[in-house]
Amino acid sequence: MARQINIEEDRDMALREGVSVLASGHPVAIPTETVYGLAADATNPVAIARIYETKGRPQFNPLICHMASLAMAEDHVTFDPLSRRLADAFWPGPLTLILPLKAESPIHSLATAGLDTAGVRIPEGFAAELINAFGKPLAAPSANSSGKISSTSAAHVEADLGDRVELILDGGASPVGVESTIVKIEADGTARLLRPGGIVAEDIERVIGVPLMRPEKASAAIEAPGMLASHYAPTAAVRLNAVSLEAGEALLRFGDADVSGQENAAVIIELSRSGDLVEAASRLFDAMKTADASGAHSIAITPIPHHGLGEAINDRLARAAAPRP
Ligand code: TXA
Ligand code: MG
Repeated sequence: MARQINIEEDRDMALREGVSVLASGHPVAIPTETVYGLAADATNPVAIARIYETKGRPQFNPLICHMASLAMAEDHVTFDPLSRRLADAFWPGPLTLILPLKAESPIHSLATAGLDTAGVRIPEGFAAELINAFGKPLAAPSANSSGKISSTSAAHVEADLGDRVELILDGGASPVGVESTIVKIEADGTARLLRPGGIVAEDIERVIGVPLMRPEKASAAIEAPGMLASHYAPTAAVRLNAVSLEAGEALLRFGDADVSGQENAAVIIELSRSGDLVEAASRLFDAMKTADASGAHSIAITPIPHHGLGEAINDRLARAAAPRP
C-alpha cells in the first residue's frame, strides 16, 4: 500500500511531502484536472526512468512536462504566436502544446524521448501549486500501469499501482477525467490535433482561426511521436548483443564483465556496472550520443536483459540498429 495524503485535509503536508519524495528522485501520484499523473522531476533521468518502471511501460514514449506558470514554461520552450494564443486561452487547463525545446533547458532527453520538442501544459489547481513549490517541471504520464485505463481517483491509483508507488496525493475525483488535448503548431502554421482530449477541438479552432488537422487527415500525424527510428539512430552503425569488440568500435557496456577486444575501443561507456536497468535506462540516450560523438564507425552494445525496463531499452536499441531509410 502507498502512503496517501488527502490534500483537502492537509494541503501543506501534501505539498511538503510531495516535494520531499520528488526531491528524492521518486515518482508521486498527483491529482490533475484531467487524470491522476505519475509525476517525477523532468530534469532527473533516474526519476524519469522510475516512471517507466512503475508503469511497466514497454516503450519510452515522450512524456508531458507540467509547468507551474507561463514564466516557467518560457524557461524551457519557445512559443510561436498561435501556440501562445492557445496558452493564453486555455492555461491552466487540459491542453498540451508541443513546442521546441530551448537548448539550455535542463529537461532530460528521457522525458522527451530524445525529441527536440516537449509536450507542455500548465495543470489547474493543486498540481500547479506542487510544481511551484518544487520549482522544476514535472514529467507525468497518466498514473496507470501500461495498457490499463487512466486513473481518475486516488483509489484507482492505489488499486493499480499501490504496491509500486511511495506516495499518492488524494485530490478527489479528477474533474476532467480524460487526458489533455494535444496540439502541435507546425513551422508553416499548420495546426495538428495529435490527441483529442479535455478541450474540444472546436474551441481551439475558434481561438486560432484555422482548422485543426485531424490525425487521419494530417499525413505526418501517423508518426507515433518518439517512435521513429530516425529519432534514435546515431550516425554510427549499431551492433547489438556484442560479446566481443572490433577495433575502433565504441562500447556500451551493461554489467561489469570484460568484453574481449575492449582494449581497442574508441570509447567505453558504462550503462550500469551493477547491472541496474533503471540506471541503464536513465543513461541510454546520453550514452548513445556520447558514443556517436567519439567518431567511431560502429557502436557495439553488450546484451541487455529483456525483463523490466530492459524491454524498453532493447526496443529503443533495436530501432537504433534497424536499417536506415
Ligand atoms: O491529461 C494529461 O495529459 C495527463 C495528465 C497526467 O496531465 N498526462 C498524459 O500523459 O496523458 P501521457 O504520457 O499518458 O501522454 C503523453 C502523450 C503521448 O501521446 C505522447 O506521444 C505525447 O503526449 N507527447 C509528449 N511529448 C510529445 C512530443 N514532444 N511530441 C509529440 N507528442 C508528444
Ligand atoms: Mg496514458
